[in-house]
Amino acid sequence: MGHKRSPIICILGHVDHGKTTILDAIRGTTVAKKEAGGITQMIGASYVPRSGIDSLAKDLAQKMKLQITIPGLLFIDTPGHEAFTNLRDRGGSLADLAVLVVDINQGFQPQTVESVKILKQYKTPFVIAANKIDSISGWKSVKTTSFMESLNQQPPHVQERFEEKIYGLMGKTSEYGFDTDRFDRVRDFTKQVAIVPMSAKTKEGLSELLVLIGGLSQRFLGERLEIDENGRGRGTIIEVKEEKGLGTTLDVIVYDGVMRKNDEIAYMTANGVKSARIRGLLEPNLGGKEKFTFLDEVAAAAGVKIYAPGLEDAIPGSPLEVVKDFESDSKDIEAQFKSVIFHRSGEDGVVLRADSLGSVEALLNLFKDADIPVKDAAVGNITRKDVMAASVGGEESRFLKVVLGFNVKILDEAWEESRGSNTHVIYSDIIYRLIDDYREWVKTEKDKMKKEAIENATWPGRIKVLDGYVFRVSKPAIFGVSVLAGRVRKGYRLMDKAGEVVGEIREIQREKEKVEEAGTGDQLAISCEGISIGKNVSEGDVLYTYMTLDEIRGWETRLAMLNEEEKALFEQIRRMLTISF
Ligand code: GTP
Ligand code: MG
Repeated sequence: MGHKRSPIICILGHVDHGKTTILDAIRGTTVAKKEAGGITQMIGASYVPRSGIDSLAKDLAQKMKLQITIPGLLFIDTPGHEAFTNLRDRGGSLADLAVLVVDINQGFQPQTVESVKILKQYKTPFVIAANKIDSISGWKSVKTTSFMESLNQQPPHVQERFEEKIYGLMGKTSEYGFDTDRFDRVRDFTKQVAIVPMSAKTKEGLSELLVLIGGLSQRFLGERLEIDENGRGRGTIIEVKEEKGLGTTLDVIVYDGVMRKNDEIAYMTANGVKSARIRGLLEPNLGGKEKFTFLDEVAAAAGVKIYAPGLEDAIPGSPLEVVKDFESDSKDIEAQFKSVIFHRSGEDGVVLRADSLGSVEALLNLFKDADIPVKDAAVGNITRKDVMAASVGGEESRFLKVVLGFNVKILDEAWEESRGSNTHVIYSDIIYRLIDDYREWVKTEKDKMKKEAIENATWPGRIKVLDGYVFRVSKPAIFGVSVLAGRVRKGYRLMDKAGEVVGEIREIQREKEKVEEAGTGDQLAISCEGISIGKNVSEGDVLYTYMTLDEIRGWETRLAMLNEEEKALFEQIRRMLTISF
């Protein structure tokens, strides 16, 4: 049977812009004041039933001929501090609708921008709460929860000041591709994002915010909120937490169906899908003597703490589902879960390991932005298998043979494997450092390759056999040459202008000293096996260094290492050889 659940509303924004205070104002509690350091460190959900919305917004809703029909609103608060990207991200991905909180006097700040990016990524509709209007200079707060009522009582110069700030905000949001306007001027809510000016402190504007959230949810979330209220419960693990006396518990947002005590649930661990039987469903008991209230069941949408034995290795961000028969369905469930939370591209790329799904997602985004392909990303410590997976691939994927770990352990077996193979392991507990370290490694590898290439490659070279300087005719021939261009080296084969190999350099002498190599302008005596002066080579002939097809291809990928003269010579040699091959 169809049933409408409460929409899940995520509150996002920069640190201290007032997210928690807005929720407090709505809930009528004062959680923010009790938090350590005033910062919300954890995602928590708070449920506001329709009656709660009515008490704040009924008059306005009636005036606007809007009847609130949703059962309530489930708010997820997120921390604004920069370190909590994962939690913001997890909240953002779960939300049906979001409230982006911006301090009207401070405007866009780094985590405002980050929040906008998260909303864009998940295509989450949102409204902007332009908070702290009470601190606009000259603003005289009015005892009302209506922004409009209060605005009408502000003196003209304050109204003007206020409008300027709203325009500033509109300009900033348009930089990120969003068309915004004050909520009462929005014509089409599917095209424009509404700004609700408000104060969490004085509650001015709280009515408009709630009516807007309620109205938009009802109008635009439609089917997304239709659930089978007796269906199997489904949710997302927000956090895995130790709870005194209970052991490991899961904070879960249930977005579909119902979860009951004794239900079997499946969830993801680093080692695959696991199941457990729910021992208790807990709800925080604010202000009561007991910390939690025990429930028999919860229906979506709800935030609930699940207590069961064996939850230690559950992964934050994992899907969680009530299952009928885990034994027989585990393969299906695993496949379904994995497609949600693991990334396997099937193409060449680096391997990523991180401590939580949120950080895996954040890493994937970072690597995507940096244009570094990822073939496999998952939660878990770095194992031998990961290193082996990274080592697959030919020479062309040399710079992708790397496992990058964020906040995970590197098992000894993984180190061993990486030492024995040409695979590199990079670790950091600072997410951004990983990309820098990776780039650094690529640069060192490239330098190394360049050096190797210089040491091993046959360079293009052109020499002239000097007239009157033949010291020995053959076996080996010893004669004077001048290097016209490029380089010659001991061991190089020489060819004539027809592309025929005539011999191989045995030794080079420059001013009676044996040398390994000579370059443009040098006058030398060389000894050559295979050459017979007067037969296959004559005085005055021009000879070239000979290259195999592989060597030619090698140079084609490293042309940048040749100077202009060498490049031209290489071109000439290549033409001579590709004709004769
Ligand atoms: P984090 O959770 O740390 O990201 O911060 P937050 O966005 O939840 O901010 P919080 O609600 O903790 O508020 C930060 C500070 O701003 C507190 O001192 C609040 O009292 C104050 N504050 C919040 N809303 C308002 C407002 O509308 N007006 C004024 N003047 N102060 C406000
Ligand atoms: Mg907060």
